[in-house]
Amino acid sequence: MIIAVDGPAAAGKGTIARALARHFGFHFLDTGALYRMVGLAAIRAGGEPITTPAAIAAALSLDPASFTDADLRNEKVGAAASIVAVIPEVRAALLEFQRSFARTPPGAVLDGRDIGTVVCPDAHAKLFITASAEVRARRRQLELGATDYEAVLADIRARDARDSQRTAAPLVAATDAVTLDTSEMDINAAVAAAVATVEARRLP
Ligand code: DC
Repeated sequence: MIIAVDGPAAAGKGTIARALARHFGFHFLDTGALYRMVGLAAIRAGGEPITTPAAIAAALSLDPASFTDADLRNEKVGAAASIVAVIPEVRAALLEFQRSFARTPPGAVLDGRDIGTVVCPDAHAKLFITASAEVRARRRQLELGATDYEAVLADIRARDARDSQRTAAPLVAATDAVTLDTSEMDINAAVAAAVATVEARRLP
């Protein structure tokens, strides 16, 4: 069984996807980490601004086992990920790894931007997790311990625009996805709603 969890930055999809994987005993892949890895490697190899050839070279030589880099989670690398993610060759280089991970028995949960639309259009259950930009900025601000709310909000908006407006696999809900707006939910309520949605899709 494949569960696709898509949505914009800081909507809670990572937490929900991990909880789903734990609940169903499935494997979990944070596909954003692949793009972060490429962004970080491209900066380290070629500096900034990131060039398309540096990003493509980084994607082609990516070692997903090197996921543990502490710098992967910072905001600068998140923005770099969003920048390299617009390059079709980068997306193509990461596709097969994601698809083969999705086929790992007994099942897998993948979170990202294009899982239900491009990576696994045949996923058994698709969730689109969203929340208002303001709520997501508050959550991200708390997570980062950042002081400047307006700056965090501006970053979130810039990332939303880049992720949704790109030509290659833009961030959009699959037509058969169930949308969960977590703006007014705490994490327990959001996880419970996600589990109930997936349970409803399971074969008897
Ligand atoms: O989920 P995240 O914030 O770690 O993702 C970082 C960036 O990577 C995101 O802004 C866009 C890109 N991304 C993507 O284009 N497709 C995915 N499946 C996952 C992430």
